[in-house]
Amino acid sequence: MRFFATTVTGLEDIAAAEVSRLLGVGAVADVSKVFFEASLEGCALLNYSSKSLNKIYLLVTRCEVEGLADVDSVVGSAGLVELIDREQSFAVRAERHGTHAFTSMDLAASVGRAIIESYRSVTGVRLKVNLNDPDVEFLAILRDRDFILGVNTTGVSLHRRYYRVRHHRAGLSPTVAHSMLMVSGWRPGEPLLDPFCGSGTIPIEAAMHALNIHPGLRMETLALRRLRIFSPEMLDELAERLRGEEERPRPLEITGLDASPKSLADAEENLERAGLKGCVRLVLGDALSLEKHFNMPSSRIVCNPPFGVRMGLRDPQRFYTIAFASMKRASPGATLTVIVSKPVVVFRALEEAGWTVTGERKVMLGSIAGYIISATS
Ligand SMILES: C[S@@+](CC[C@H](N)C(=O)[O-])C[C@H]1O[C@@H](n2cnc3c(N)ncnc32)[C@H](O)[C@@H]1O
Repeated sequence: MRFFATTVTGLEDIAAAEVSRLLGVGAVADVSKVFFEASLEGCALLNYSSKSLNKIYLLVTRCEVEGLADVDSVVGSAGLVELIDREQSFAVRAERHGTHAFTSMDLAASVGRAIIESYRSVTGVRLKVNLNDPDVEFLAILRDRDFILGVNTTGVSLHRRYYRVRHHRAGLSPTVAHSMLMVSGWRPGEPLLDPFCGSGTIPIEAAMHALNIHPGLRMETLALRRLRIFSPEMLDELAERLRGEEERPRPLEITGLDASPKSLADAEENLERAGLKGCVRLVLGDALSLEKHFNMPSSRIVCNPPFGVRMGLRDPQRFYTIAFASMKRASPGATLTVIVSKPVVVFRALEEAGWTVTGERKVMLGSIAGYIISATS
């Protein structure tokens, strides 16, 4: 069976690598998506275990279309009867990219009508539409002439982690945090430091990865539980097996530091909710004089420093230069992976502080561009 998963634009290669690692299959990166073949069990495994994917869709069909009439006939012949029970409700979400003579709402309505018609022609039953809480949610994507129809097996996005009871006003998406750890090359067992940890997203994601914690197992609702193609026995057995593979919490060489007592208290609470109390060391301190707190040669530093005047930065270049110099003193031989909004300022600061830039990638954080920059000291 064919599937696709959504992820953050700019991190598709990380998502594809995770799909390959978890399922042992090749995955093709596309814009904000990855496509792959898997079994239903493989799809369930991704929902339970993935840390870089947002939603996983069963690919119903993908083809070239000329307009809405084509969309109607493609959806009509897609064989949807197997996917929906007679008494179940459905909804269609639509995304449209390119120039078309119709809106994404027209596309959603057209696909919805075609689903109702084709289901009725085979079963005699008129399916119910429920836009707020459907049993089965379809996603129709039209990019120029490329039409994709999928069924959401996840429900709400996996980036909404179960542990996030405390939100930072500038908090990082957990899927981005996990992906930054992968970009950094950090491996469990290596010392890791986040000197601007806020509510703890990066250290918590690192601890979850190190202990093989499966975040999706703790999602209150996963859409696949409502899809008739997934057997409840298979899902239960898989969930039990994965729970059995998780490691017990233990102290890890992962440290988060922040200058704000409130942020640290939030990080502590999130860590506790994650079931990982005591796994991460949380330190109240100033990232501009890190050497007062640490002497950790060759650690991996992964962080999301403050940016902009709203975060109290009047002279960002000076702030970053002092912070990067302090990181170099506290951890000679370290590698640094940092996400920022103004890359040029950060390049200058890294150079002034004696770091060598080794990589840069642009990622889309909603509608805002962020830049993940890697450097060695
Ligand atoms: C963008 S936020 C980090 C958010 C975090 N990644 C999360 O997901 O919650 C930046 C953090 O840097 C902290 N900070 C600002 N100046 C600092 C300094 N000099 N030393 C340490 N932390 C500082 C702020 O308190 C804030 O929590």
